Amino acid sequence: MPGWGPGDQRRQLRRKARPAPAPAARSPRRGVAWIIVILETVVTTLDEQGEPHFAAMGVVWGEETIIIRPYTNTRTFRHLHKHGEAVVNVTDDVLLFAKSALTHERLECEPAPRVHGVVLSGACHWREVQVREIAVPPAAASASRADVITRVVGAGTLRPFVGLCRAKHAVVEASILASRLRFLPLPEVLAEIGRLEALVEKTGGPREREALLLIRSHVERRAGNAGGRR
Ligand SMILES: Cc1cc2nc3c(=O)[nH]c(=O)nc-3n(C[C@H](O)[C@H](O)[C@H](O)COP(=O)(O)O)c2cc1C
Repeated sequence: MPGWGPGDQRRQLRRKARPAPAPAARSPRRGVAWIIVILETVVTTLDEQGEPHFAAMGVVWGEETIIIRPYTNTRTFRHLHKHGEAVVNVTDDVLLFAKSALTHERLECEPAPRVHGVVLSGACHWREVQVREIAVPPAAASASRADVITRVVGAGTLRPFVGLCRAKHAVVEASILASRLRFLPLPEVLAEIGRLEALVEKTGGPREREALLLIRSHVERRAGNAGGRR
């Protein structure tokens, strides 16, 4: 992708990248070793203009297959359907979850070595994936989820995962709540965010605090817009 920045940055990413493991003889979905773990990630796709798009997504994680489960009315679903490629980024920087779920901010990123897409600069490690199959529920309502089954074609590591932290967990949960205001009762969301906020104050650093502020202002803005409907 021309114009993406200095070539040495790209070479650096290639060095850190490694090829995906060889595909198994049969589908891991049917294999006994297929253990379902849903990991919270940031999925990057390219939009119609080739610009990067960032969205926090829980994915069904596997070494060879990753299932992304976007709602069918999201841009991520549209991009996956149209371009068939994405990068699944794993990060411990929870501010990136809040930003990618609740804002349109363009996050720092670099071109992916094996697919048309970008790797989040704040990722600990990533998987580059190609869409194999998309299963949309029959007569899908606007808010139903698709199963986008992808094959892992590349992977790489940028830095170690920092470790478990209650404040990071709290920010991820609060971001999910804030992204579901259309489905969840506002008073419950506000009460739960208040509880999670205490964990961030007790155990978080500046990134977690900034994330919580962003989440709170997003929810309060929505609450203001909802007005009498509360
Ligand atoms: C941790 C986390 C996990 C999420 N998982 C999903 C998911 O699996 N599917 C989905 O459609 N939205 C999920 N969301 C909400 C999306 O990130 C959010 O709606 C985002 O704006 C996607 O829409 P877009 O592709 O139109 O930007 C999640 C949000 C968070 C914070």
